[in-house]
Amino acid sequence: MSGSEMRSTLAGSAARASPANATRHDAKAISASAPARFGRRGQVDEGIGSRSVATGDGNGAAAGPAPRPHYNAASCRFPRLYATAPRRPPPPPPPPPPPPPPPPPLFVCLGNICRSPTAEAVFRATAQRAGVAGRFTIDSAGTIDWHAGNPPDWRSISHAAKRGYDLTPLRARPVIPADFGRFDWILAMDRSILHALEAMRPAHCPGHVGLFLEFAPHLRRIEVPDPYDGGADGFETVLDLIEAGSESLLAHLVRPESGARDAGARASQ
Ligand code: 4NP
Repeated sequence: MSGSEMRSTLAGSAARASPANATRHDAKAISASAPARFGRRGQVDEGIGSRSVATGDGNGAAAGPAPRPHYNAASCRFPRLYATAPRRPPPPPPPPPPPPPPPPPLFVCLGNICRSPTAEAVFRATAQRAGVAGRFTIDSAGTIDWHAGNPPDWRSISHAAKRGYDLTPLRARPVIPADFGRFDWILAMDRSILHALEAMRPAHCPGHVGLFLEFAPHLRRIEVPDPYDGGADGFETVLDLIEAGSESLLAHLVRPESGARDAGARASQ
């Protein structure tokens, strides 16, 4: 090869190797060696739904599990979807509040040694059987103070004990004005006691003052008769009426709508 021919051949090779003169085959080779458009090579950011490009050795051999998609929040069409933490389920609703305690009853007779202490003990036992005794404030009192501080009449204690009621811890006390503010239900054993209570009642007494047996109309008796001057039958009758009346009163007081003072207003209508 002459010197001029040698220069001509070398110039042609250089011209074919430049990008401007590259063939289609050469352009493909250049593109394959260029860096990926986004991210590292093999992990192409194409937005939501993009798939990673499997990397390998270039000969079709698998290179292990596919890498996790690499999302670039800046280039994503919905960056907030990836910028926020996963949503937690809403917390469960709070449990319903417990029902309000039943309104407290005060049983009232004359001396607070026969009928009303019997009613206190029997109603407490009735509430205990129903599982609500701990929620009640149960008390009794008399409209006179002759027996204040004394235990119940021994006959009342004896007859009640035969039916399983213990009256011995109870002590007599008179009704006081504060009782009208403390008790929602002030329940008299007979009409004469009710009249005495209404005479003592403050002008703005919020509770219900009425007869104990008004809640047991099926008994067809509105009064618990005074057994003090009678025989044993009278004390048994007192127990019969008070046991039945306590069941009816408890059923009335534990009703959901029996909201103490409001219910008292309804009962007195
Ligand atoms: P109570 O019975 O009212 O059921 O306790 C009576 C107790 C004492 C008297 C009268 C009734 N007393 O006249 O002393």
